[in-house]
Amino acid sequence: MSQGLAQGLEGVIAAHTVLSDVDGAHGRLVIRGYAVEDLAGATRFEDAAHLLFDGFFDDLPADLAQALGAARVEVFAQVAALDEALAKRDPVEAMRALLARLPDGDDLATALLLLAAPAVFTPAVLRVGAGRAPVAPDPALSHAADILRMTRGTPASDAETRALDAYLVTVCDHGLNASTFAARVIASTRAGLTSAVLGGLSALKGPLHGGAPGPVIDMLDAIGTPDNARPWLEKALARGDRLMGFGHRIYRVRDPRADALKAAVRRLSDAAGARPGRVVFAEAVEQAALQILRERKPDRPLDTNVEFYTALLLEALGLPPSSFTCVFAMGRTAGWIAHAREQLAGGKLIRPQSVYVGPGVRQAA
Ligand code: ACO
Repeated sequence: MSQGLAQGLEGVIAAHTVLSDVDGAHGRLVIRGYAVEDLAGATRFEDAAHLLFDGFFDDLPADLAQALGAARVEVFAQVAALDEALAKRDPVEAMRALLARLPDGDDLATALLLLAAPAVFTPAVLRVGAGRAPVAPDPALSHAADILRMTRGTPASDAETRALDAYLVTVCDHGLNASTFAARVIASTRAGLTSAVLGGLSALKGPLHGGAPGPVIDMLDAIGTPDNARPWLEKALARGDRLMGFGHRIYRVRDPRADALKAAVRRLSDAAGARPGRVVFAEAVEQAALQILRERKPDRPLDTNVEFYTALLLEALGLPPSSFTCVFAMGRTAGWIAHAREQLAGGKLIRPQSVYVGPGVRQAA
């Protein structure tokens, strides 16, 4: 390794931020002064977005709910561009294509359209992909309630709405993760918020970042019974696979968001009386995975990350695994926008250096 080169920029500090603090040693996440477990379950998504945007837009209204509802309606006009071929693609790719149609800008109006976009496009992509007509937004509903209604075509219960709010709030910001860093790099060139959010989404979709929760469901389904957990997981590791939903660049202990989401799944299944056995089964798989990872990697603490219980919560809400990354983006877009604005306020272009290790100068033929 070259002198001064941190692989994957591990341990490198690349920004000062007032938005969130990820304490990897103690397993704590603080969002603008609030512990994530206190915000999740007690806060609507629009209020968490307001918390993140505060100080970054001069014209921020006291309550974002109405403006965000209006933005959902405005963004829905773009759904007309969703043809059958696009709807057949992976939902995150279809959503990314629709998002790219929005104009660039740095103002609050652009920010609200971007915040509304994944919430409106994802249900439309899912419905059109299944041969059904998209459902128009209802601006009078809360953001989470409207997402569920646009997805299913029928109103969601209060418990379901609270559960989706808990999820969106839990993932709304998380320090300088890969997608947020990508968004900040793009914002630093003054390309505009839409470009920054598109870059964030493109980084999010990879399985080492926000693409993990869908495969968590595949893993649980393939394991099937608690007895099969250990042999299945051992075989997966022997193949060189990574166990989805485990490990983290920053956390050396349990990701605090895992417990915030586990509590939300429990509240939801208590309210609906639905699939409580699924959580018990997932816990058995989790324990087996943690034990095997400890045995195989005694020097590298690998614990449960946010994606494991994300998968269970979104599944309990009836959302298909193919949509999980899009739902993650519904929450994280708030963080990308706030970070992009913070980066712009700092004003400096992000432009690191590389060390050339290629061939010496030679004669062109
Ligand atoms: N399963 C098996 N082995 C693992 C796992 C895992 N989930 N995570 C890390 N390891 C191993 C690696 O193979 C590596 O072993 P090696 O040193 O023998 O090569 C060692 O632990 C260190 O791993 P790194 O890749 O260096 O750790 P890094 O900090 O770069 O990776 C990451 C973090 C990408 C999240 C990793 O833990 C992983 O791939 N997890 C599975 C995918 C996942 O759950 N992604 C969602 C992350 S949360 C989020 O982004 C919202």
